Amino acid sequence: MAEDLHIHKGTKEEQYRALIPQIQALIEGEPDLIANLANITGALKEQFNWFWVGFYLVKGEQLVLGPFQGPVACTRISRGRGVCGTSWAKAETLIVPDVEKFPGHIACSSLSKSEIVVPLLHNGNVWGVLDVDSDALDQFDETDRHFLEQIVSVIIPG
Ligand code: SME
Repeated sequence: MAEDLHIHKGTKEEQYRALIPQIQALIEGEPDLIANLANITGALKEQFNWFWVGFYLVKGEQLVLGPFQGPVACTRISRGRGVCGTSWAKAETLIVPDVEKFPGHIACSSLSKSEIVVPLLHNGNVWGVLDVDSDALDQFDETDRHFLEQIVSVIIPG
């Protein structure tokens, strides 16, 4: 397919609904995991212009920084630490309306105000997380959880 992303306006739900088939088309037929993760971060950043969008991948007892869009970030996060490590340990999506109120939040940037972390699951095991940060408070809600979980469900771990 052409690599141009078609950016849609409208409600958040409409934006996700327009974006998801484009993400599927981008990663369909491409077996390379890093290429696919990179394009997903690019697509999400282009559509929503969030402050930071990226993946952390499980390597042993840590999450290690993967493809992302945004400012430089922490490279390693231990299981159970921060929002990402807690999402990994619980194997569930975490929505944090105000990062300063999340005990143990890891501040890669002081500009980050709210966050959503979605685990990447394969046969019930977490093999990474998608982390999205906003410079606005209370940016993420159940709509984001629903569609981001849908987006990561089609990623096949390499
Ligand atoms: N805030 C995250 C760390 C990753 S950065 O936001 C990119 C956390 O608490 O896990």
